[in-house]
Amino acid sequence: MKLSPEQLAAFDRDGYLFFPGLFSSEETKRLNEAVPELYGRREAFNVREKGSEAVRTNFAAHLYSEPFARLARHPRMVEPVRQLLGEALYMHQFKINGKMAFEGDVWQWHQDYGTWKNDDLMPTERAMNVAIFLDDVTPFNGPLMFIPGSHKRGVVDAKHDVSTTSYPLWTVDNALIAQLVERAGGKHGGIVSPLGPAGSMILFHSCLVHASGSNLSPWNRVSVYLSLCAVSNHIRRFKRPEYIAHRDFTPIDCLPDDCLLRDCAVDLPWKDGMPPSALETSIDEARKAA
Ligand code: SIN
Ligand code: MN
Repeated sequence: MKLSPEQLAAFDRDGYLFFPGLFSSEETKRLNEAVPELYGRREAFNVREKGSEAVRTNFAAHLYSEPFARLARHPRMVEPVRQLLGEALYMHQFKINGKMAFEGDVWQWHQDYGTWKNDDLMPTERAMNVAIFLDDVTPFNGPLMFIPGSHKRGVVDAKHDVSTTSYPLWTVDNALIAQLVERAGGKHGGIVSPLGPAGSMILFHSCLVHASGSNLSPWNRVSVYLSLCAVSNHIRRFKRPEYIAHRDFTPIDCLPDDCLLRDCAVDLPWKDGMPPSALETSIDEARKAA
């Protein structure tokens, strides 16, 4: 899949591209069917919502689940990102976000690159976020919200919020959000939400400011978030465990376009469990050395 000059210009202007229904319902179904068993596992890689059993985020399924290992190498997802970043890519982070019916909590306003820079020492913003919907996304089940063009501001001030939700995040304060929304058009396009059927894909810039509200509807909003980073821009610090911020910088090799519908062989290095090293951080290393 090659992006047109119009799409490249729209990405530069808005900071995102939306591809409604890019994956077929059969492809999406194979992925979605694998989620309950993954969410059922009692492992560190499943982060649950505050005060609830509902999974907020499952990390690194591409290392232990066949359907998601195939998705991580899918040409419809990888090739446009490679085109935009102009370089081989590795997987920096892989999440299946639940945003479960009635229980899915908010994601405060943030830029992903803020976290990758502050926590992981990723040198520049040359990394891309990809969202793939495994459920239909409607105005009611906590859709992503973007401030179009906010990526042009580069990295903005953020503070480390470790209490609002169950997952620590570098978040942007309300005054700056109000300013960015006003500059993006205020009530006329200053906030947008790409809505669409399961199988839709969004590519969004790592500095695009985004958030999502809680899901009070009776419909899950499971989405996969793949964060692809240019190989030369790999992270320089391992402060977060490896299941959250990956340390294997091997370039992604794509599988055939129909890989989600047949048993393409994939490597599953964590299929028998995470290695103990995946839980260790550079802070543990420093403690051991001291
Ligand atoms: C994210 O920003 O990483 C997740 C947002 C969401 O799932 O709504
Ligand atoms: Mn994010």
